[in-house]
Amino acid sequence: MRILIVAGARPNFMKVAPIMRALQQYQRNVQLRLVHTGQHYDDAMSGSFFRDLGMPEPDVNLEVGSGSHAQQTATIMQRLEPVLLEFAPQLVIVVGDVNSTLAAALTAKKLNIRVAHVEAGLRSFDMTMPEEINRLCTDAIADDLFTTDRLADANLIRQGVPADHIYFVGNVMIDSLLACCNIAASAAYPKRVGLESRKYATLTLHRPSNVESAEKFEELLGALAEVATNIPIVFPVHPRTRQRIKDFGLQPFFVDRPGQTGIWMTNPLGYVEFLSLNASARLALTDSGGIQEETTILGVPCVTLRENTERPITITEGTNHLGGTSRNSILEAVTVALNRPEGDHRIPEKWDGKAAQRIAEIIVGRL
Ligand code: UD1
Repeated sequence: MRILIVAGARPNFMKVAPIMRALQQYQRNVQLRLVHTGQHYDDAMSGSFFRDLGMPEPDVNLEVGSGSHAQQTATIMQRLEPVLLEFAPQLVIVVGDVNSTLAAALTAKKLNIRVAHVEAGLRSFDMTMPEEINRLCTDAIADDLFTTDRLADANLIRQGVPADHIYFVGNVMIDSLLACCNIAASAAYPKRVGLESRKYATLTLHRPSNVESAEKFEELLGALAEVATNIPIVFPVHPRTRQRIKDFGLQPFFVDRPGQTGIWMTNPLGYVEFLSLNASARLALTDSGGIQEETTILGVPCVTLRENTERPITITEGTNHLGGTSRNSILEAVTVALNRPEGDHRIPEKWDGKAAQRIAEIIVGRL
């Protein structure tokens, strides 16, 4: 069986790594090819993740780079089509909700190739999010839908997906997290930059709705600067966010040294370094999807700087609090998060490090 797996942007790599490892155990039956679309290309956004996660070099890199959503999606489709025609896989696996996910699913399906979507069924019900559009469209055409929780199954059923196309397998992102926890602990990034365990908060911000408007971004930073008077904040900055800080003249919000009262910016961190930073944090502040899940497993309180989440299980079972994006709602959520009793969360069902193995068994079992 020829299987082609597609990765494109930072949050894809930790999902693809365990699936590849699980499928490689079936080498006698499976010929696997990894395509990197090149949506992310900086070493800090891509190469370092491949190294940290022990991933092989991609067999093909489409080198699409940055562009508008239409440009990026269309270029991936144009460049992936000949690769699919040449390799003629029986299955294309896509993960997550980035532009590469939708572009690859659409290209494969139009060639009548079976498509598997890993992390299917998540819904924020917010159609202004590019990822929600990617999730909806990918799920509408995928043949095998692998889900992380039972609410995702229900979302898919409501959307008309036949039940026998849906497989609740757990969370492949957590497979990577559990596999790398020990290496992350020994990486000891916080110690290296002089941060004391549980005496700082982490911050990530890159959603267009938060950082593309000067007014909104400034309001957010104002609220976060207030939080940082109590607990210093470490902020590894996405390249686009860094550009906006410059464009909007927001540099005065930041301090020079880690651990100093205030918000300290640093370059994007690799997978293992960021995991070690988050694992020892007192609090995580984020608008990322994956970090809501990771902090649930790490037991670190998280405040999500958004009005909604496609991952409500991280609130009902995990350590996540929806903080919204206005000053008052953020400060309120931070207080609640900092006061939550330790250990007051559950590990969601099947977030046990074995999700990729379940996926591989289902795929290979069909042979
Ligand atoms: C993408 C995903 C988002 C994910 C995020 C994680 C979509 C629609 N969005 O958003 O879901 O949470 O990745 O990072 O797919 N850039 C660099 N170096 C890189 C890559 C990007 O400097 O290696 C800069 C460029 O200025 C580029 C901008 O970041 O224009 C945006 O990159 P893009 O991949 O389009 O979207 P992200 O905002 O990263």
